[in-house]
Amino acid sequence: MHWTLAHRAQKMNPSVIREILKVTERPGIISFAGGLPSPKTFPVEVFAEACAKVLKEDGHSALQYASSEGLVALREQVAAMLPWEVDPGQVLITTGSQQGLDLVGKVLIDPGSRILVETPTYLGALQAFAPMEPEVIGLACDEEGPLLQDLQHQLGVDTDPTDAPTEPARRRLLQLDLEPGRTFPRFMYLLPNFQNPTGRTMTEARRKAISEGCWALGLPIVEDNPYGDLWFDAPPPATLTSRHPNGCIYLGSFSKVLAPGLRLGFLVAPPDLYPKLLQAKQAADLHTPSFNQRVVAEVLKDGFLDRHVPTIRSLYRTQRDAMLTALDRNMRELDVTWNRPDGGMFLWVRLPQGMSAIDVLPHAVEKGVAFVPGAAFYAHAPDPRSLRLSFVTATVDQIHQGVAALAEAVREHRDRT
Ligand SMILES: Cc1ncc(COP(=O)(O)O)c(C=O)c1O
Repeated sequence: MHWTLAHRAQKMNPSVIREILKVTERPGIISFAGGLPSPKTFPVEVFAEACAKVLKEDGHSALQYASSEGLVALREQVAAMLPWEVDPGQVLITTGSQQGLDLVGKVLIDPGSRILVETPTYLGALQAFAPMEPEVIGLACDEEGPLLQDLQHQLGVDTDPTDAPTEPARRRLLQLDLEPGRTFPRFMYLLPNFQNPTGRTMTEARRKAISEGCWALGLPIVEDNPYGDLWFDAPPPATLTSRHPNGCIYLGSFSKVLAPGLRLGFLVAPPDLYPKLLQAKQAADLHTPSFNQRVVAEVLKDGFLDRHVPTIRSLYRTQRDAMLTALDRNMRELDVTWNRPDGGMFLWVRLPQGMSAIDVLPHAVEKGVAFVPGAAFYAHAPDPRSLRLSFVTATVDQIHQGVAALAEAVREHRDRT
């Protein structure tokens, strides 16, 4: 049989991270590689009770087909949970926020459409968008997020985009642009809170500038925020979507605050765009499992997240602190640098000049520790010195042991080369 692959299938690649995760499943490996939340945070007993209750009280509906928009009660809970005024009618329940990315890609990207992303950015988004064959443009970024000057450069505007919005720009944003325009980017994909992979957070000043600039120029924003609730010392600044809801699609998830196995996320879209995303959702999977939606709606009753999320914050803060201490102890004299994330699950490390994280990885695995080389997260021109460490799944002891082993691998690799 001769199978002829569609052009878009040729754009699909195995996830580098999933390949690395296979190695980390070997017994004895301390893994800083995965993007998995700590299973200690999964409220198993609460789910056992909620499942039993849903089956007893609502079993037949919970096991039936349901509407594509999602369970009304859950959409109302999501709208009430978000810290800006959201109409539950604009909430679409998705099968993980990963599905939100897929739907956004299907609805907004034509082959050759330009899309803007951070440098580096979430690998799963690059994978979700790739089959739609966009021209992906990685914006230059610093510790505070994308650089406004580079955004202006990519858009070909010399004026300060924070100037008052022009009417045509506003119209382009508010009307659904159905013409396949190849030059003006379709959207900018941003992760302002505790970004995956770097752990960085966009400052208030940068949010304001980016948000005002995009609104003025008519550039839509896709804001992905699965980690925003996992702050350690203070909540992050207001979301981009809350500033201009008509200029943004907001993606949220229950994966990091409840459990990823539920595959439950949501998006909030402006009224003009919502029906198209809904049609794409219908075609993709009809609806997100109704049983899971009902169980989560049951769990969320009575403000469960307000009690539960602080326990996750506190656990992850302890683990982040352990990793910072271990890095300080083992890596200083090696000229390795790293950042200090204010929340989330990841920390970003840079190896000394001339070293490559991909080359260090086999030595690290030999020594019993794994990480993800940063190169996986770049749309173009990867920084070979960068790597991502997750601090949430290993125990504090394992963090100390693993970072010492990683330092050993870096030292040996340096001495050999
Ligand atoms: C930035 C980002 N977006 C989306 C996702 C997908 O999450 P979900 O489990 O909701 O599909 C992840 C998962 O790690 C992520 O890091």
